[in-house]
Amino acid sequence: MKIFPSFFLFVTTLFFSVFSLSLQASSPSQSLYREIHQLISFRNVLPDKNLLPDWSPDKNPCTFHGVTCKEDKVTSIDLSSKPLNVGFSAVASSLLSLAGLESLSLSNSHINGSISDFKCSASLTSLNLSRNTISGPVSTLSSFGSCIGLKHLNVSSNTLDFPGNIPGGLKLSSSLEVLDLSTNSLSGANVVGWILSNGCSELKHLAVSGNKISGDVDVSRCVNLEFLDISSNNFSTSVPSLGACSALQHLDISANKFSGDFSNAISACTELKSLNISGNQFAGAIPSLPLKSLEYLSLAENNFTGEIPELLSGACGTLAGLDLSGNEFHGTVPPFLASCHLLESLVLSSNNFSGELPMDTLLEMRGLKVLDLSFNEFSGELPESLTNLSASLLTLDLSSNNFSGPILPNLCRSPKTTLRELYLQNNGFTGKIPATLSNCSELVSLHLSFNYLSGTIPSSLGSLSKLRDLKLWLNMLQGEIPKELMYVNTLETLILDFNYLTGEIPSGLSNCTNLNWISLSNNRLTGQIPRWIGRLESLAILKLSNNSFYGNIPAELGDCRSLIWLDLNTNYFNGTIPAEMFKQSGKIAVNFIAGKRYVYIKNDGMNKECHGAGNLLEFQGIRWEQLNRVSTRNPCNFTRVYKGHTSPTFDNNGSMMFLDMSYNMLSGYIPKEIGSMPYLFILNLGHNSISGSIPDEVGDLRGLNILDLSSNKLDGRIPQAMSALTMLTEIDLSNNLLSGPIPEMGQFETFSPVKFLNNSGLCGYPLPRCGPANADGSAHQRSHGRKPASSVAGSVAMGLLFSFVCIFGLILVGREMKKRRRKKEAELEMYAEGHGNSGDRTGNNTNWKLTGAKEALNPALEIELLQHLKVAVACLEDRAWKRPTILQVIAMFKKIQAGSGLDSQSTIGSIEDGGFSTVEMVDMSIKEVPEGKF
Ligand SMILES: *[C@@H]1O[C@H](CO)[C@@H](O)[C@H](O)[C@H]1NC(C)=O
Ligand SMILES: *[C@@H]1O[C@H](CO)[C@@H](O)[C@H](O)[C@H]1NC(C)=O
Ligand SMILES: *[C@@H]1O[C@H](CO)[C@@H](O)[C@H](O)[C@H]1NC(C)=O
Ligand SMILES: *[C@@H]1O[C@H](CO)[C@@H](O)[C@H](O)[C@H]1NC(C)=O
Ligand SMILES: *[C@@H]1O[C@H](CO)[C@@H](O)[C@H](O)[C@H]1NC(C)=O
Ligand SMILES: *[C@@H]1O[C@H](CO)[C@@H](O)[C@H](O)[C@H]1NC(C)=O
Repeated sequence: MKIFPSFFLFVTTLFFSVFSLSLQASSPSQSLYREIHQLISFRNVLPDKNLLPDWSPDKNPCTFHGVTCKEDKVTSIDLSSKPLNVGFSAVASSLLSLAGLESLSLSNSHINGSISDFKCSASLTSLNLSRNTISGPVSTLSSFGSCIGLKHLNVSSNTLDFPGNIPGGLKLSSSLEVLDLSTNSLSGANVVGWILSNGCSELKHLAVSGNKISGDVDVSRCVNLEFLDISSNNFSTSVPSLGACSALQHLDISANKFSGDFSNAISACTELKSLNISGNQFAGAIPSLPLKSLEYLSLAENNFTGEIPELLSGACGTLAGLDLSGNEFHGTVPPFLASCHLLESLVLSSNNFSGELPMDTLLEMRGLKVLDLSFNEFSGELPESLTNLSASLLTLDLSSNNFSGPILPNLCRSPKTTLRELYLQNNGFTGKIPATLSNCSELVSLHLSFNYLSGTIPSSLGSLSKLRDLKLWLNMLQGEIPKELMYVNTLETLILDFNYLTGEIPSGLSNCTNLNWISLSNNRLTGQIPRWIGRLESLAILKLSNNSFYGNIPAELGDCRSLIWLDLNTNYFNGTIPAEMFKQSGKIAVNFIAGKRYVYIKNDGMNKECHGAGNLLEFQGIRWEQLNRVSTRNPCNFTRVYKGHTSPTFDNNGSMMFLDMSYNMLSGYIPKEIGSMPYLFILNLGHNSISGSIPDEVGDLRGLNILDLSSNKLDGRIPQAMSALTMLTEIDLSNNLLSGPIPEMGQFETFSPVKFLNNSGLCGYPLPRCGPANADGSAHQRSHGRKPASSVAGSVAMGLLFSFVCIFGLILVGREMKKRRRKKEAELEMYAEGHGNSGDRTGNNTNWKLTGAKEALNPALEIELLQHLKVAVACLEDRAWKRPTILQVIAMFKKIQAGSGLDSQSTIGSIEDGGFSTVEMVDMSIKEVPEGKF
């Protein structure tokens, strides 16, 4: 075999030498021979030699994977999404110099290194290097200046930076038409000016979104510009100078901090088809816009006020999509919009629109597919004429308004119904769920939670063969969960909490193997947890709390390969905790529940009737401030509420995060396998009859925040290994048979003595000192001066149950705080002695500020700490589009570690400008709602 390639080379060489005698030296086939050489030498530098198996010297390169030829010349190479794992220099030396190459696409190909000078083929017109890890200053792109025919250059989603004003500007081919620099690490004020300083007369498409660019944008010299995207940067000064703007069709300046009047700036852009200015700080009435050709307009997430102005009717000839969500508009859908016959998507959510549904106007919009009026003040009963509209919509979202009366039975009366999403949650709907909803045969999401619906769940819903989400929680539904749901193989989410449902979990649900969130808490359900539960491979959240389930906890729960949240509190489960249920620890991949809006109500333990660690509620389309409606049905009064969107916490090595089996009749021992869950935040086994000792392995639960083993029959000592539980903010071991010294646990916390009371001889802090009989030297005595600190980081961690990246930041914050607190205690005492009772306590002179002054002695640490906190807070952002991606967070952490900080303005001064202490900042961001508010 080995001789074959050389044989082939020999033959081809011979062939070419013979032919070049008679033909021109530039014979296409001869160049092919040279190209084989270059392609093979590229393959040979790849770390994985098997990545391109058919790139072999004895084959025609035009048959190589990813290679296209024209007239016997390699003209195009596409190796996108192949993990090449090479530096840019290898690409440059072997591929970019291919004489006839016109197009090279290496998107997401694991290319790193920086761009260096190289010799580029003159025929190259298109180069796509997006989604790699190419780094270095953006000025290195000038190396592409030698590609004199380059028209398309895409280097988006790399890590190019802008270290400052580099003389000369960016030197690229003067015929460049497309330049995409989105999602790099470009920051600073003059980036766009620098990029364009050598002209842009041919440029049609410029994208720099997802960087941190500020300052001005002037594209007035780019006379052919059709597409400009500067979204998601730090622009705040003036909107771009667009010049004559005769070609611009697409303008996106969203997610910046623009404000003021921009109508002059864009008034000349009469060709504009798409305008997105969402997520800025524009305020006041909608200004005049160039509407003539506009097909898509988004003014979302600004501070616009007033009614929808008639001037928008100027766009009605062309407008297909209008998004005014997240402003302060009031009034109603104005009649003139009826003439927008092409309108397909009308999104008016999160404003103050009110009145009855303006059916006359809506019915005129014959092409309407998406109608989103959620989070407004619309009221009244649903008009019968809505049925003329609903069947032809894809999405009807009326959630979080003040609608009342019955849900119309004929929402899908047309046989050609297309309705996929029906959101009516958080209104005042009464009456029964119409059985005829089963006519909505295309329905994927049905969300009727937070209403006053009564009667039973119609069994006809079992014929909705595409249904994925069935959410009916907080109504007054009775009867059984219809067994017909077994025909809905597509079902993923089944949320029925807070109703009056009876009967058992229907066995047919075992066929719904896509189920990932089953929540049936606070009903009157009974029966056993079925053994088939183990067949639900996607099941991530199972909540059965506060029902009348009984029997053993099936070992098969351990077969649920995705289970991260198990809440079984307050039922009649008996038997032992099966060790098998922890079988998946360290192997769980959470792919199923990302991006779901939730609220977690922490049980503050004040109320004896309120059981369990806390309540996780699905909250899509429901106003946070309506949470008090839950308290009418829940014995818990809550002091802490956490909200957010679920996001993956781990890739493939996860474990359960929440395990609450309290208030049952469980007996036997705590299996040592319980210690195998590295991501467990909350463990509550309280109020059972569990006996034996606490296994040492509980000390392996390094992420544990809250541990409640109270009111059992546990005996023996508290394992010294539990001193490794440094994240612990709450513990309750009271009412057991424990004895011996209490080890030091927790990150900042001093636990109340009450949490250890009623045992058989516990001693040591916070209980009285151990006597000579039980002191064993390992008991850690703490100074009495230490007051219980507010468990800020602990609370944040709670709020972030799903968010690993943030937890990472907080662990660092926590470590640092703990170190300081130790130091501080000593300093604080000295301070108190020196100054006595000074009595000058002002609002600012709190403990925190007092110690803050001392901590500022180490400004570098202070900045680093606050930078971590900033990252954490960014992760807590409500608006998904503002939240950093995992990659961005990792990049931020890397920057902090490298000492360069999050942004250049991050000095102590600017941090203090905000006037917040770190504590307030975190509290604000998690919206820790004081009890009084509800
Ligand atoms: C590029 O990636 C390769 C393989 O992943 C690695 O060995 C090399 O150090 C990286 N080079 C740079 C400059 O990061
Ligand atoms: C480059 O690749 C990205 C990602 O695969 C793709 O979205 C884009 O259309 C490509 N651009 C060009 C100019 O080929
Ligand atoms: C926009 O409105 C919000 C809430 O009404 C307010 O907090 C914010 O300061 C306003 N921003 C501007 C730029 O007016
Ligand atoms: C449910 O699954 C069982 C076995 O897995 C199968 O025999 C039965 O036909 C399925 N039922 C439905 C309604 O799909
Ligand atoms: C659990 O309770 C059931 C009745 O609900 C009873 O039959 C069974 O014996 C109990 N098992 C144990 C281990 O106590
Ligand atoms: C909790 O609510 C109950 C009534 O449901 C009330 O009596 C009690 O005082 C409340 N507890 C606290 C701590 O506010």
